[in-house]
Amino acid sequence: MSPLHILHVVGARPNFMKIAPVLEACARRPRLASTLVHTGQHYDEKMSKLFFEELGIPRPDVDLEVGSGSQAAQTALILQRIEPLLLDRRPDLVLVVGDVNSTVACGLAAVKLGIPVAHVEAGLRSFDRTMPEEINRIVTDAISELLFVTEQSGVDNLAREGVPEAKVHLVGNVMIDTLVKHRASAAKSDVLSRLALPARGFAVLTLHRPANVDDPETFARLLEPIVELSREVPVVFPVHPRTRAALDALSGRWAGRMDVRAIEPLGYLDFLKLMSDARLVLTDSGGIQEETTILGVPCVTLRDNTERPITLTHGTNVLAGTRPEGIRAAIARASAARAAPASPPPLWDGRAAERIADILERL
Ligand code: UD1
Repeated sequence: MSPLHILHVVGARPNFMKIAPVLEACARRPRLASTLVHTGQHYDEKMSKLFFEELGIPRPDVDLEVGSGSQAAQTALILQRIEPLLLDRRPDLVLVVGDVNSTVACGLAAVKLGIPVAHVEAGLRSFDRTMPEEINRIVTDAISELLFVTEQSGVDNLAREGVPEAKVHLVGNVMIDTLVKHRASAAKSDVLSRLALPARGFAVLTLHRPANVDDPETFARLLEPIVELSREVPVVFPVHPRTRAALDALSGRWAGRMDVRAIEPLGYLDFLKLMSDARLVLTDSGGIQEETTILGVPCVTLRDNTERPITLTHGTNVLAGTRPEGIRAAIARASAARAAPASPPPLWDGRAAERIADILERL
């Protein structure tokens, strides 16, 4: 019997930590054959190549080199470039991860060619349709044949949307597989000494959501309480390319009155070490809410909602909203919170990709 040919898709930074364990688990099974496609949504050395090296992800078989663009232009270009590839390679299954434009575009192209789609990290919902990622999640789940879910809320959301139970598999969190695997080597990173930071004596900040950073006044309002925090504890801020321009526009506003250290984006191991040793993490990222939950580091999420509610109930996450008063209160609450989670979310044990590969092998 010929092996099941799976075409795996990645495009943007958070996809890389998710695909790494899935590819590894598939590679161990002779019944599964893999092709890896990079759409090129993220292309900077520090946003892409570095992660492939650190996480030992094989070189992509194909790079679609789509680059940046508006939501529609980027999605359209991915659709256009993946279709001939799918026609040429004729995979048995297309596997997409997460909620970025590459996820929805490749899923859509595949399903229209009659190729079944598997979605890793299915079912998450923020119930906020102004987020591009929420639209990507809803559409991808609606066209997927296999839905691999990280937490019970995802199973419940899919049931409510009428997705047949047989398609849905609660498998755990592949991003945590990667964290578990690399935690020991990340501990050896010298990032703290490079940045002259004492363990537990600093906070980490990441921001890149369009709703938070695209408008300079919104961005400034969000930063106000963080600037205040920086007078007590230095704040390290690895800046996403999207956020760079907004930050430059504000340069000088708090000159000499803050200790927010804007640095280039970090690689996976350095960033994992930085989070692990931080007193507090402030973020609008989805994945970081999950990683801090496992690391037991307090996390303040600078959003009004989260599609990952288990990080609130089982983890260290506090939702701050985006108003200065709310952020100040959340910082106080998170700083006073217990140091470690009561119990990690079910199945976030480093074996989610194995469960996925088991299911794929039985197809
Ligand atoms: C994308 C995802 C988001 C994810 C984030 C992680 C969508 C809709 N959004 O957002 O869910 O959390 O990635 O980083 O898919 N840029 C560079 N170099 C790069 C990539 C981007 O300079 O390698 C700049 C470009 O100016 C680009 C902007 O960043 O216009 C935004 O990139 P884009 O891929 O459109 O979305 P992200 O904001 O990165």
